[in-house]
Amino acid sequence: MIKVEGISHRFGSFLALQDVWFRVPRGEIFGFIGPNGAGKTTTLRMMATLLQPDVGRVLIDGIDVVEDPAAIRQLIGFMPDDFGVYERVTVQEYLDFFAAAHGLTYESRGRTVDAVMELTELGGLRTRLVAQMSKGMKQRLAIARTLLHDPEVLILDEPANGLDPRARIEMRDLIEELQSLGKTIVLSSHILTELSDMCTSVAILEKGRLLAAGTVGEIGETLNPERAVRLRFLAHPAHATDVTSAFAQLPFVGAIERQPDGDYRVAYRGGDSEVAAIVATAVGAGLLVVRVEPDVNDLERIFLEVTKGELQ
Ligand SMILES: Nc1ncnc2c1ncn2[C@@H]1O[C@H](COP(=O)(O)OP(=O)(O)OP(=O)(O)O)[C@@H](O)[C@H]1O
Ligand SMILES: [Mg+2]
Repeated sequence: MIKVEGISHRFGSFLALQDVWFRVPRGEIFGFIGPNGAGKTTTLRMMATLLQPDVGRVLIDGIDVVEDPAAIRQLIGFMPDDFGVYERVTVQEYLDFFAAAHGLTYESRGRTVDAVMELTELGGLRTRLVAQMSKGMKQRLAIARTLLHDPEVLILDEPANGLDPRARIEMRDLIEELQSLGKTIVLSSHILTELSDMCTSVAILEKGRLLAAGTVGEIGETLNPERAVRLRFLAHPAHATDVTSAFAQLPFVGAIERQPDGDYRVAYRGGDSEVAAIVATAVGAGLLVVRVEPDVNDLERIFLEVTKGELQ
C-alpha cells in the first residue's frame, strides 16, 4: 500500500533523513519508532505531501506523492503531532469546519460528522469547547478529523503521546477498530513498547537512518540474536533437577536468571523450535512448567541499546 523508496532529506546542510526504505502492506498497523529527532515527523510529512524528498520517492497505492498530491490527500488522513489553535469552537463545529474544507456538502456533512463522532466516542462531547478538552479527548478529536473524508490510509504522528494508561488503551482500541474497518495505519512513537502490542510491523529509525524493519519478533532477532523466555514452575518438586543444570545440555541457552517474582528468565539464541526444546527439557527434568512467555522487556532493552538513548 505504501512504498518508501530510498528517501533522503536535508534541512540546509543538516541531513535529516538518509536513504530510508520500507513498505507498509495494506491493512497493517505499522509503527514508526525512533528517539526524538530521528526523522519520524519528517518522513510522515513526506507521506502526507507536506514535504518533498530530495532523493527517492514515496508511493501510496501506486501514486507518487510528489506527482499527484491532490490524489494522495484524498487517500490519506494525516494527524500532525501538534494540535493547532482552533480552540474557541465546539467539537461539532470543529469537525463540521474540516468536513467543509474537505468539500463535503452541507447535507452530507451532518451525517458524516455524526458517524465520525460515534466511531471516536465523542458524541457526548459535541457541544464541548475544544479549549476545555483533556489531552486524551483532543487526541481523539484529532483522529476524528482525519476520518472525515473516509481515507484508506491514516498517518498518525505520536497519537499516544501524553496520554495516561487508560487513554492509551482506549487509543489502541480505536486504532484496532479502524484497522478492522479496512484502513492501513501508520503511527509513530519514541516508545517501542507503546506500539509493540498494537502494531503488526515496525520500523526503527535513528539519526535519519533505518535500523530495522519487520515484525516486532523479526526485529528483535535482527538487532539482537539473543532472546529470552520467562518460565514459571509449579512449586519445586523434591526430585526436580536444579533449573540451571537442567538446561546445561542445551548449547543455545545463555544466562539463566531467577527473577524477583520467582520466574526464571532463560536467554537463548534461535526461534520457536529452541523455545519448544527448552520447555521439553524442563519437563523431562521433572520441572512442572505452568507458564512460558517471551520476555517482552527485551524489546525495550534492545531498542535502548541500538538507539543508545541519544537525542539528535
Ligand atoms: N524545518 C526544519 N528545519 C531544520 N531542521 C529540521 C526541521 N524539521 C526537522 N528538523 C531536524 O530534522 C531532524 C529530524 O526531525 P523530526 O522532527 O523528523 O524528528 P522526530 O523523529 O519526529 O522527533 P520527535 O520524536 O522529537 O518528534 C531533527 O534533528 C530536527 O531538528
Ligand atoms: Mg516528531
